[in-house]
Amino acid sequence: MRHFLRDDDLTPAEQAEVLELAATMKSAPFEHRPLEGPQTVAMVFDKPTLRTQASFAAGVAELGGFPMVVDGRLAGIGERESVADVARILGRQASVIAWRTFAQADLEQMAEHSGVPVVNALTDDFHPCQLLADLMTIREHKPELAGLTATFFGDGACNMGNSWLLAGATAGMHVRISAPEGYTPPQEVFDRAREIGEQTGGTATWVEDPREAAEGSDVVITDTWVSMGKEEEAAARTEVFAPYAVTQALFETAKPDAIAMHCLPAYRGKEIAAEVLDGIQSVVWDEAENRRHAQKAVLAWLLAKAGAGE
Ligand code: NVA
Repeated sequence: MRHFLRDDDLTPAEQAEVLELAATMKSAPFEHRPLEGPQTVAMVFDKPTLRTQASFAAGVAELGGFPMVVDGRLAGIGERESVADVARILGRQASVIAWRTFAQADLEQMAEHSGVPVVNALTDDFHPCQLLADLMTIREHKPELAGLTATFFGDGACNMGNSWLLAGATAGMHVRISAPEGYTPPQEVFDRAREIGEQTGGTATWVEDPREAAEGSDVVITDTWVSMGKEEEAAARTEVFAPYAVTQALFETAKPDAIAMHCLPAYRGKEIAAEVLDGIQSVVWDEAENRRHAQKAVLAWLLAKAGAGE
């Protein structure tokens, strides 16, 4: 059974297939009904959400299914009941489980015991649904993904930094992480991205100096400096990441036709200047919309694989 727990769960060819399906679904949003029945998709949230809940719910409805929201705090997953037991229970009610939680290891346990495909709706380590939406968005603005330089500024050690390395390398992109020492993605994620890049032509580098990193970038990306679960470190993080803020001056160091990306929620004046986020080269609202189309595609793709016994 196939799951989507991290970006490299899709091979380069599979990622391209899912992105193509997402574009097809966007052009005809009501014409694909693999969840007709309706089949249920369980969406489980242990952390705050807006885009993920809204885009999964709308997307599942468009696919003909029923989006069932499970409040992780009420369920007490891992406390009131083990992850394995929750997986067995939800797997008897739903055709797919999408889970937003803390530990990647818990998500892996869910996948091991659910008997249905499991989708990572964000963990501390990866945010692969966001990356599918981001790659889809870039494809709408640039002729092709392979060969583009995408630079992520700020907290390189968060889920978005890791996911950019894996998904970007899978797409054959040159991914730069511009972050202070101590806030770079783990070595194993760099190693995995470089291994993928050997097949795709993609590269993965850490460029500590933000101006140097911005030069020649086609895509300028940032994310909050204080990811969910890191709230207690907010003051220290605001100081250490300040030189990595995507200001208008830093953005202008990138290519003249660069696009600005942010998975949102954004904090204007902190990790990104309002003039960049709200400027004409920003594609953040497209990214938010494309969550729906990209997730529809991955759900349909996983269900087709499960139906084929793969
Ligand atoms: N790195 C952020 C992403 C939010 C969509 C977080 O984990 O809070």
